[in-house]
Amino acid sequence: MGNAVLEHLRDSFFADEPLNKAVGLCERGQPHAALERLCTATMTDGLSIAVVDGDTIFRILYTVSHDLDLFNTYQVERILECRIISVSDKARGRGFAKELMKRSIEIAREHQFKLFKVDATGAFSQRICSSLGLRVLHKVRYAEYCNEAGKPVFNVLPPHDSLCVMVLEIP
Ligand code: ACO
Repeated sequence: MGNAVLEHLRDSFFADEPLNKAVGLCERGQPHAALERLCTATMTDGLSIAVVDGDTIFRILYTVSHDLDLFNTYQVERILECRIISVSDKARGRGFAKELMKRSIEIAREHQFKLFKVDATGAFSQRICSSLGLRVLHKVRYAEYCNEAGKPVFNVLPPHDSLCVMVLEIP
């Protein structure tokens, strides 16, 4: 499904993810080499799941990543990081992202991960995380994240206003 997933991400995540949008990373449908390398590497980890309707893919990608502070803070050797959540714009608002994240937490539990972590870059992903019991470990308000000239680096559109690093400890 790799190529179909990349095609979906070019139409959805690459253009609509709040930080990507803020910097005008991609026109909808356009490729982005570095982002595609990240997505392909994430899929190669073999921990990604998708909802598929015919040829349309509502895709969510999960992977394990390494974050030294979290490993030390939580005294864990492995962390499952939900890295990319993407739902086709035609299918949004129907609970797919929440359901996929819920199932991903189940995958984390089945694989004996003790920590599930998300860098939630927008209001909707933050809402999903909160409703599934994740708590905000760190918050960066985009308006306060400025360059040397004192100007915000990301002009993110409302309702998205912050990046939240959110975690769930899994007993
Ligand atoms: N306006 C208001 N609320 C909304 C909207 C909207 N347009 N879209 C979703 N929500 C709310 C829902 O009401 C729901 O909250 P509730 O459970 O309290 O009712 C919550 O957000 C989740 O809704 P879902 O239907 O599960 O989310 P959806 O399937 O629409 O997918 C997603 C959300 C993945 C953020 C989608 O909008 C998307 O693909 N956006 C572009 C990519 C992106 O920004 N991904 C997240 C970046 S962070 C990361 O990847 C780790």
